Amino acid sequence: MTNYVTIDEWNIIEEGLHLDNNRIYESIMSIGNGKMGIRGNFEEDFTGDSLKGTYIAGVYYPDKTRVGWWKNGYPEYFAKVINAADFIGIKVELNGENLDLAKSKVCEFKRTLNMKNGYLLRSFVVEDTSNNKFKIEVKRFLSMARSEIGAISYSITPIDNDATISFTPYLNGDISNEDSNYDEKFWNVINKNVDSTLGHLTLKTKKLDFEVTTAMKYNLFIDGSEIEFSPALQIEEKFVANKLSTPVKAGSTITIFKYVAVTSSRYYEKENLTLKAYELVKEASKIGFEELLQEHSNKWAQIWNEGDIVIDGDPSAEQAIRFNIFQLNQTYTGEDSRLNIGPKGFTGEKYGGSTYWDTEAYCIPFYLSTREAAIAKNLLIYRYNQLDKAKENAAKLGLKGALYPMVTMNGEECHNEWEITFEEIHRNAAIPYAIFNYVNYTGDEAYLAEYGLDVLVETSRFWASRATYNKFKDKYMILGVTGPNEYENNVNNNWYTNTMATWNLKYTIKVIELLKDKYSAEYKNLENKLNLKAEEIEQWKDVINKMYFPYSEELGIFLQQDGYLDKEQILVKDLSPENLPLNQKWSWDRILRSCFIKQADVLQGLYLLDDKFSVEVKKRNFDFYEQRTVHESSLSPCIHSIIAAEVGYEDKAYDLYLRTARLDLDNYNNDTVDGLHITSMAGTWMSIVHGFGGLRIKDNTLSLNPFIPKAWTKYSFKVLFRNHLIKVSVSASNITLEQQNGETFSLLVKNKRYTIHENETITINK
Ligand code: BGC
Repeated sequence: MTNYVTIDEWNIIEEGLHLDNNRIYESIMSIGNGKMGIRGNFEEDFTGDSLKGTYIAGVYYPDKTRVGWWKNGYPEYFAKVINAADFIGIKVELNGENLDLAKSKVCEFKRTLNMKNGYLLRSFVVEDTSNNKFKIEVKRFLSMARSEIGAISYSITPIDNDATISFTPYLNGDISNEDSNYDEKFWNVINKNVDSTLGHLTLKTKKLDFEVTTAMKYNLFIDGSEIEFSPALQIEEKFVANKLSTPVKAGSTITIFKYVAVTSSRYYEKENLTLKAYELVKEASKIGFEELLQEHSNKWAQIWNEGDIVIDGDPSAEQAIRFNIFQLNQTYTGEDSRLNIGPKGFTGEKYGGSTYWDTEAYCIPFYLSTREAAIAKNLLIYRYNQLDKAKENAAKLGLKGALYPMVTMNGEECHNEWEITFEEIHRNAAIPYAIFNYVNYTGDEAYLAEYGLDVLVETSRFWASRATYNKFKDKYMILGVTGPNEYENNVNNNWYTNTMATWNLKYTIKVIELLKDKYSAEYKNLENKLNLKAEEIEQWKDVINKMYFPYSEELGIFLQQDGYLDKEQILVKDLSPENLPLNQKWSWDRILRSCFIKQADVLQGLYLLDDKFSVEVKKRNFDFYEQRTVHESSLSPCIHSIIAAEVGYEDKAYDLYLRTARLDLDNYNNDTVDGLHITSMAGTWMSIVHGFGGLRIKDNTLSLNPFIPKAWTKYSFKVLFRNHLIKVSVSASNITLEQQNGETFSLLVKNKRYTIHENETITINK
């Protein structure tokens, strides 16, 4: 395996310039603040291989669908978070020569993502054609404290001789998405301006009319003293810039600070966008780079204080988990319930930045434990607000209730592969499951009356109408589906889907009972609004009681679907390595005929409905399915790791964890070029906290059952649970709990109850 980055506990470091792998580093070095994100692109011109990427949360484009064979019911478009105006650009000339790291002579190079303080730093030395050396340092961040602000500091020191240096800070609206279906450009520039220190571009999407203004302001310093300049203004069709040139003495440092404000019509009236962007960027430049960076770092300090995982004895694991926590927090900050988490976040174009079931099944547990409850709640409200669209979606398929889309930006389905769009309906239970998880974790039952029940009832209606009654067997079946394992299509009775559908129905009934009891006035209104009748609930009970679950008596395992055992049973270990990954080496037909499993499927159900299954059952299913699973989705190994931990396969749990932890840093699946696996990063966090830490909520009580992997000497994580902040440290000999915030409460460790007061530390010998 190639070591792409230097191991360091708080930094991701590229030593030396790797032009051949630049796209990988650009993905890894992405920065964001929940409202926008940029790949690790260079500020100066770069003619090498690069995927330029600047993304603004919630600003998307309905790119006309492209499919080989149209199926009735396909959506008209695939939503894409579009590449927005490039605002980091600063052209640099050293003694009149354009700086371009693909062409210039680079003597030293280091690119560092500082995760503690949340900035990207490049330090390098270049030589011009007359052998004059220049030391360059570039730092940038997107402010976590002011979500519309970005700042760059670009410093150059001529080492040997006096030099003439010029900077051209610019905004470029001539951008496109590489994944555009018809090579269409998605934006028009609708207004622009530039004067001696300020400039802006306003772009409007060709469809949906989103408008985004990007404004810039800059100032120039030599050795810490601000200097006056009279720049040459440039204004082109989609581009505004200022060129500033000045002599600089050898050993002196010239620094340009470029401040950027990005305002969008999602947050402001269109006529105010420019004004607001100028106001924000002027304010930012007044505050100055260092102070902005300080307030940004303070935000990160807060995040780390509540969400850090510390691993002693394994710096590579430490770096990896921090990278995952860092990227998740850069992607979603939770203030806006219209936003969600794309599988690649702001780090690439793949998956279009849209919402998948990944959010509910993977990300919500992470945000629930590491950030205040309001953040996860906004992810639930996102789906609540899209309920009407989900009802339309179900109706289009001739079904009742609501079917949430597999891939969406605004609630409409935008995925167009029949086996996923129409068949991967298990996602419809992940959304109710997230409601359950949220309420179980936070204790916020009022959510159920305010928002939850509507979603539960409509998803239940969907399941009841999607299940087919088989009168010969007196059983309900769910036919023609794709489970989480996408290497099987159009199967009957995927165990996971049938199980989660039944769970969904049961949970809805349970919530109805709870609301009747505790929120009777609200329930009366809901009953009317939702037109809930006793007969309908009876019908759900019939589906629950007569649901069919494929099972092998002989093996004592749940069967992934009807007929799974008819397949030739080969194990992954018996496949010679040149067959892997199957999705690149085998035809689709061969994959579908085989018994190989792309990702956790039966095991996904065992994980989610944890307390419904005994350890023995989990073990038998793990033994069977793990040997057949190729883990070709990044969402897979973490779930297997958690089950392995629970059934006592500690080494296996650790091996599986390793596959997820450094997935992107080590380019394990050879796809980091496409962007980072943001949603599966939450799975990595789960492997430590739910897997090694054994965290569960049992009867409203926090429960832990930790072990420590052999490679580590100690690890600790923090969880926020119902207004308590608890630090859990685990070593080979003991478990230490520290309540850093919150009133006295009791929790379970290895099934034994302990009471803990605020600021108290208790140590339990293992
Ligand atoms: C997985 C899906 C997942 C999607 C986005 C696919 O490869 O099979 O379960 O939702 O990626 O992460």
